Amino acid sequence: MKILLLGGQGQLATDLAAELRARGHELHIRSHAELDIGNAREVAAQVSACQPACVINAAAFTQVEQCEAEPERAYAVNAVGASNVANAAQASGARCVYFSTDYVFGGPRGQPWRETDTPQPLNQYGKSKLAGEAMAAVNPRHFILRVSGLYGLAGSRGKGGNFVEAMLRRAQSGEPIAVVNDQILAPTYTAHLAPAVADLIVTSQYGLYHLSAAGECSWFEFARELFRQAKLEPQLRPVSSTEYGSPVRRPAYSVLDNTKYLGLGLTPIPDWRRGLSDYLALRRNRGTGTPCGS
Ligand SMILES: NC(=O)c1ccc[n+]([C@@H]2O[C@H](COP(=O)([O-])OP(=O)(O)OC[C@H]3O[C@@H](n4cnc5c(N)ncnc54)[C@H](OP(=O)(O)O)[C@@H]3O)[C@@H](O)[C@H]2O)c1
Repeated sequence: MKILLLGGQGQLATDLAAELRARGHELHIRSHAELDIGNAREVAAQVSACQPACVINAAAFTQVEQCEAEPERAYAVNAVGASNVANAAQASGARCVYFSTDYVFGGPRGQPWRETDTPQPLNQYGKSKLAGEAMAAVNPRHFILRVSGLYGLAGSRGKGGNFVEAMLRRAQSGEPIAVVNDQILAPTYTAHLAPAVADLIVTSQYGLYHLSAAGECSWFEFARELFRQAKLEPQLRPVSSTEYGSPVRRPAYSVLDNTKYLGLGLTPIPDWRRGLSDYLALRRNRGTGTPCGS
């Protein structure tokens, strides 16, 4: 399939590009510098010139704190950008893919969220991504894929790395580490997510899907498991979100139920612990980043 991938230097886009190439798709990639999705005319021109069968919008303004401070910019990229891409794709007869987030949810919950549950975003990032979902849906041939807690070897462009690397760096520095224990999610390794996305977007089962690693944990439990696997023993302690003191509200429980995706008979995304072990193994093989313990 001829695929145009936007936001092509991002964390997820990097692993997605590798997966799509390995499957033999004809891939055309645009970085932010090559195409700003906020520029409707330029998006329309480049999509029309490329004539892809599928446009993947992996571009986003992902810094949650900054979105709170700059909501106009969050909407310009995450919502208006989504509209520009979906409309351009539709005009060229292409399907479109939009990545959304577990942060569209915010209410109290004790079990994983389904696609039919009502979103209630708590912050500007979540609100702008929910608006983006509505914009992407103007193209009837859309895949809107809610994902959560991404980490990949490329690191988040927006956030300047990922949670795993940040934890490993702090452990190496010897500083005590406090991690929130009251935000439960399913952190997802982008190299595990990419095959699921690649499987799904070639089908004609358009719509909204939840795609995340199996299982669930708090950020504290995720960090503790990381250090166990990496054989590091930093001073790690759980804290509440209130004690941590972020200025932005985040959902207490944002685990996504993948039943709809699994119902298509496609390959499940591995458990979050397996995500960590595969990530650490790949990073060891590549000799990347901060060393782990021996
Ligand atoms: N990271 C997570 O934990 C997480 C969780 C849930 C959902 N998601 C969603 O998953 C998707 C991928 O996230 P990610 O972690 O791969 O993010 P990322 O690494 O920050 O990548 C986003 C990319 O978008 C580009 N970009 C920003 N503004 C743009 C614009 N106006 N036009 C074109 N490109 C633009 C960035 O380029 P520059 O850096 O050069 O500006 C960057 O390459 C996003 O839709 C995000 O909302 C992420």
